[in-house]
Amino acid sequence: MSVTYNSETKTFMLQGKNLCYSFWINDLGYPEHLYLGASVGNDDLRFTRTYGATSTAATPPGIDNVNSYNAFPSELSFFGTGDYREPAVQIVTPQGDRLCELLFDSYEIVPAKPKITGMPSLDGGETLILHLKDKINGFAADLYYTVYDDCSVICRRAVYKNCGSADVRLERAYSFTLALPDRDYDMISLYGVWAKERHIDRIPLHHGVVSIDSKRTSSSATLNPFIALLRRDTTEFYGEAIGVNLVYSSSYVLKAEVNPDGTSQITGGINDFDFNWNLAPGEVFETPDVVISYSDTGLGGMSRAFHDAYREHLINRRYVKASRPLLINNWEATYFNFDVPKLCAIADAVNGLGIDTLVLDDGWFGKRDNDYSGLGDWVVNDKKLQGGVKAISDYVHSIGMKFGLWFEPEMVSEDSDLYRAHPDWAIGTPDRKHCYSRHQFMLDLTRREVRDYIVKSVSDIIENNGVDYVKWDYNRNVTESWTYSLEPERQMEFAHRYALGLYDICERIVNGHPDIFFEGCSAGGARFDPAIMHYFPQIWTSDDTDAEERTKIQFGTSLVYPLSVMSCHVSVCPNHQTGRTTPFDTRAIIAHLGATGYELDTTKFTDEEKAAVKLQTAEYKKIERLILDGDLYRIDSPFEKGFFTEAVVAKDKSFAELVCYRRFVSVNNEVRRVKMVGLDPEAYYCLEEKNIKAKGSTFMNVGFSPDYPHGDFSAVKYHFTRI
Ligand code: GLA
Repeated sequence: MSVTYNSETKTFMLQGKNLCYSFWINDLGYPEHLYLGASVGNDDLRFTRTYGATSTAATPPGIDNVNSYNAFPSELSFFGTGDYREPAVQIVTPQGDRLCELLFDSYEIVPAKPKITGMPSLDGGETLILHLKDKINGFAADLYYTVYDDCSVICRRAVYKNCGSADVRLERAYSFTLALPDRDYDMISLYGVWAKERHIDRIPLHHGVVSIDSKRTSSSATLNPFIALLRRDTTEFYGEAIGVNLVYSSSYVLKAEVNPDGTSQITGGINDFDFNWNLAPGEVFETPDVVISYSDTGLGGMSRAFHDAYREHLINRRYVKASRPLLINNWEATYFNFDVPKLCAIADAVNGLGIDTLVLDDGWFGKRDNDYSGLGDWVVNDKKLQGGVKAISDYVHSIGMKFGLWFEPEMVSEDSDLYRAHPDWAIGTPDRKHCYSRHQFMLDLTRREVRDYIVKSVSDIIENNGVDYVKWDYNRNVTESWTYSLEPERQMEFAHRYALGLYDICERIVNGHPDIFFEGCSAGGARFDPAIMHYFPQIWTSDDTDAEERTKIQFGTSLVYPLSVMSCHVSVCPNHQTGRTTPFDTRAIIAHLGATGYELDTTKFTDEEKAAVKLQTAEYKKIERLILDGDLYRIDSPFEKGFFTEAVVAKDKSFAELVCYRRFVSVNNEVRRVKMVGLDPEAYYCLEEKNIKAKGSTFMNVGFSPDYPHGDFSAVKYHFTRI
């Protein structure tokens, strides 16, 4: 990893693992992009410059007969002085001046990546900070660039500064602009909805802007804050892929734009829809990290770069590679209908089967027998639970298991003591009725007193009830964004201030209880983003627990996020969401491709099922290290074929698992061969289930036919051990 500046050529060169990034400060002082791609020499790349047609171009202010800003590949596009592409930043001065000319002022190279105030961010080493400034109004931007030795990503962000003497209103404050040399790309995004999160869309880029966003004050299931640009012939294994992922949990936007000259650029960050921010003299505005991964080994290489970056530089170090709770969750077993004996019986039924944690889901607090009431009243319902939550945690601990508890800290029910006492704590305008969503309202996290209440009430419960694990849910999105905490002209700061409020309570509750393991959740997987991952080493992937549907959800999620972050449970059949029946083994094989657990009424287990669970958990423990730290290779996509095939290989290539799933059986099936991926071609391996010993290259080039069990939705797994 290195960041260098050549003062003769005014060229910056950033060398990371398998990637290189370069730009220069051109004669106008404009930071002009030169290259993002596979590693190259520390060479002067200015010979690559070519400028397309610039008819009706506007020259930079006051200079005639030179190229327009619009012609240069940009490190940060700005508005009003001849650059007509999507600006990364727009400001308004008190005179109504919206112009900006952010040119090179100076640079620094610092040994460690500076943290962002109040927002989670990647850590990392050597970082270039480029100082840009508008000489007329004193508005300035610092661009941060960090490259890594251990993962093929570059981390970028911008900090906007008011160095002038009057207030400035930010109307747009994106994190970055990334210039691309042409327009021959497809764009991938991950779309979805409740119980259908992160399905894959792939469309060709075209002239104009393609944009994805969220206006929900949450990263949302609708579109994950991620896009990838792929060469037209890029596949899972071959070709260039550039992935872009925002470390942010509120409303965002990402845009890919093809310019008239046939080049393109990506930009984005905090959504500028329903946003502005007042910046007084001397104030700064920090934007979230954007992680840009580069791969020339297809989508698979791009995903592994993200997985490595998040495991090494973002997720809580204490937990990221630590063995996870293997849990039984009571939600699909009981929903709201439980008492102490029932919960203890659920735990008893799995004692000795390799399951080590009971998680008590929704319904243990306040008046909460359905989802119409009780949220916000974090007081144990002693009537429903005789002896309280403590009676259950004591029991669970006495049989050698750990105990987990569900919260939805950001919410309030209309029928709750909290809402009756503080109706103004719910987000909404004073003169309008609020929208319901799941019959509940949201708490105004922009207010300090609301955050303090949440921190205290949640902390009291987890500190006094033997809680080892917390499931933190978030089941609706903001409507009526308006807060008593801001002046009328600052109300559009709400969505970002909500994110800052969320990160504040996460800092205080999650990081304030380092011995407790926290899992994130959002009506399934509706807030599955890197900022959430920073606090929650695993996130509930989807409320859809059907194994067939999960192949798509988990496949799509893995494009960006590591297996260890995906929380996946084995549930009962017929499945509660789809009514489908899939074999027990299939459900376990698919759910064990993540941080795993069970979510069904274990008191109804037959002896045969108990024996199966014991075997499944023992097998999971053997491969858990792969889930926590292995390299994922997707082989067959369930979006394209009736098969889902994935391999996970240990970093040292000593051990690997191959999972093969077939959607439908048909009589006289065609022969099918699967080639293993990711092994050391020169090493010898034993394919344990078949007792075949061969070279890695043999398994990878010749392949073999998986023995899919008979019937629909069948799955089988294989293990390769280096000998
Ligand atoms: C959400 C979660 C579920 C469960 C319920 C409880 O839907 O995704 O796993 O916790 O809330 O109300």
